[in-house]
Amino acid sequence: MIQEIHRIREEALEALAAAQDEREIEAVAIRHLGRKGALTGFLRNIAKLPAAERAAAGKQANAAKKELEAAVQKARDGLQPKRPLQTERVDISLPGRRAAPGHTHPVSQVTQEICSILERMGFSVAEGPEVETDYYNFEALNVPKYHPARDMQDTFYISENIVLRTQTSPMQIRAMEQQAPPVAVIAPGKVFRCDSDLTHTPMFHQVEGLLVDENVSFADLKGTLTAFVHEMFDSDTALRFRPSFFPFTEPSAEVDILCVMCRGKGCRVCGQSGWLEILGSGMVHPNVFRSVGYDTGRFTGFAFGMGVERIAMLKYGIDDIRKFFNNDMRFLRQF
Ligand code: PHE
Repeated sequence: MIQEIHRIREEALEALAAAQDEREIEAVAIRHLGRKGALTGFLRNIAKLPAAERAAAGKQANAAKKELEAAVQKARDGLQPKRPLQTERVDISLPGRRAAPGHTHPVSQVTQEICSILERMGFSVAEGPEVETDYYNFEALNVPKYHPARDMQDTFYISENIVLRTQTSPMQIRAMEQQAPPVAVIAPGKVFRCDSDLTHTPMFHQVEGLLVDENVSFADLKGTLTAFVHEMFDSDTALRFRPSFFPFTEPSAEVDILCVMCRGKGCRVCGQSGWLEILGSGMVHPNVFRSVGYDTGRFTGFAFGMGVERIAMLKYGIDDIRKFFNNDMRFLRQF
């Protein structure tokens, strides 16, 4: 009897070990453990055994049954995926996880807007070096060495004759060296000054403009800059040209717009004046033309330079220039 149980057990375990897939495992289970299985049949007939053998045979048979059931379950576990297929199903109608793409920095956006307005007027874009020679940044722009006008800007010197450009104006010289009049260029880019507070950062951006031809007058400067301001800000923005001084222009004027915060009433932003300065400009100084060999008797021109961050601050009501460079995503995402 006992031998018969062992034979069934052995046979079942062998078959189970050989089973390759779910179907084969289930076949083994049915053949040996099912209602018509060998072991079940054996157990059902146990009552017919002689009384002396019954207890031992029953014990053995039950033990074998338990062992086989466990082996079958183990084989099933080995085959089945841990999670039911149902939960792994992909719902293709669910929206995907969005990748956050970057976007253009507000300073770049405003630079592009300034340039596109001026390009539509006929100016073309030129770019030049941020590390400049003293000659281009100062000398050729009618600022000789030791001239007090150098104090207008706190210059970063690399060496005695190499500086980080303090303005985009050296591009006036580079542009004129490359071509004869007429010239109509704008030059966007980084500039550097040793200065840092609410409205100054050691690096900021400017857009320079230069127009040279015969018969260019101050009226052309006024018309061009008025049209520019009306495109950049509201078309009814009031502006004024205030006499000023730059070594490379004569006469010179700074352009103010009516304060965007208080509309001219006077507030903290405009220092109670009602006006906000947005750019410097003027008629090209004859000494600048002499630097590049232009005929001062035949040609005149105007130039202007504006701070990009300053215009962005006025346009968007930003009170601290450093916000542009802190890289706080909550700030940058608003643009
Ligand atoms: N370069 C001057 C500045 O940085 C601005 C300017 C440019 C003024 C061109 C006049 C003409 O302040």
